[in-house]
Amino acid sequence: MTKTQATAWPYGDPTWLVNDRFGLFIHWGLYALPARHEWVMSYEQIEPQKYQKYFDYFEPDLFDAKKWAKIAKEAGMKYFVITTKHHEGFALWDSKLTDFKVTNTPIKRDLLREIIEAFREEGLKVGLYHSLLDWNHPEFPVDGLHPQKADEEFKKKTANRDVTKYTEFLHEQVRELLTNYGKIDYLWFDFSYPQMTWDWANGKGKDEWQSEKLEDLILELQPHILLNNRLDLKRGVDTSPEQVLPKEGLKEDGRPIVWESCQTMNGSWGYHRDNMDWKPTEMLIKMLIEAVSKDGNLLLNVGPNGRGEFDGLDTKRLKDISEWMRLHSRAVYGAGSSHYPAPLDCRYTQKGNRLYLHLFAWPFKHIHLEKLGGRVDYVQMLNDASEILFEEEKSTKKSGADNIKLTLPVQKPDVKIPVIEIFLKE
Ligand code: GLC
Repeated sequence: MTKTQATAWPYGDPTWLVNDRFGLFIHWGLYALPARHEWVMSYEQIEPQKYQKYFDYFEPDLFDAKKWAKIAKEAGMKYFVITTKHHEGFALWDSKLTDFKVTNTPIKRDLLREIIEAFREEGLKVGLYHSLLDWNHPEFPVDGLHPQKADEEFKKKTANRDVTKYTEFLHEQVRELLTNYGKIDYLWFDFSYPQMTWDWANGKGKDEWQSEKLEDLILELQPHILLNNRLDLKRGVDTSPEQVLPKEGLKEDGRPIVWESCQTMNGSWGYHRDNMDWKPTEMLIKMLIEAVSKDGNLLLNVGPNGRGEFDGLDTKRLKDISEWMRLHSRAVYGAGSSHYPAPLDCRYTQKGNRLYLHLFAWPFKHIHLEKLGGRVDYVQMLNDASEILFEEEKSTKKSGADNIKLTLPVQKPDVKIPVIEIFLKE
């Protein structure tokens, strides 16, 4: 039997992930120092010897894992995913397989361990991001994404690179991560690109990564673990909606699948000092609601800086999100799509007999809810549990079921996105 989602879920029980809905993504590596996007090494075609300066000066002296974990918890995030190694190849843990690791930088500490322990302590589930690409490894064949893609000399010198040697290293690093850091709940690989070709090189996918073998190793070490779908095996948590939200919930063979949209706050995953493309908090909250209304998750990213802190603009957004989540999280955790049609400028999420109406725009006085006639027991604002009066209303559409009409206060409640909680009779 093939291990596709439509036949059987091949990994651990994803119930916790589906229930939790909201996680923190953290991109942190040497690229925090140039502060010009985590792909800076490739974008600027930097050679490993020149990139070395970021290694030599990596000393995040203000880093406090407990502080990070607390911020995430307060924002209502129930799990997190941290970059163990990004494409630059730098290991954020004390890997025995390379010298290009955090314990050899001036900070000298296994920062990954501190992060995992602090987040676990706060009750968040542990997710590890791991890059399949490695621009630092001496056996990783140069391709069109590699920093030295245009360096003909370098390409000639490295033409004999043996991907199987790299893959062995990749598997062994994964073994370390799944052996030395306790229970890991989620392993998030990035990424496969077998469809890409250049006239002098091919992209890489399951054959290069030996994905089936890697998957076996992972499941042997941590049988309960969840994997995302970037190993090129067409299974796992569908994390393809990257920096987008799908038009509707993702399905395979007509059946809903487990999916997660990962999103940045300003377009860059790694710390990017001069990028001012910040999404307003309201937009971020809407994105969370939108994902849940389509049975998906939101993995929201921060890119900590080289001192080891979240940028002030990240922190401000997470703080505002925590205020919204404090009052509205029950419309998020364990909630999913509703089959009722949401009115214009609104989204529904539903959990059992509680239907949540999220108002992206605040209308004057009345809002009409289709097909809810005869089905509603009680209605209130979620932020303060104040009653919302409603009336049954005959449908104006000939064939349609009856509606209800809510009477809203003129003043929009003082929250980023107001939510109305509707208790259904069913
Ligand atoms: C991409 C990028 C990467 C980022 C990731 C997050 O694949 O290569 O920089 O880490 O998306 O999903």
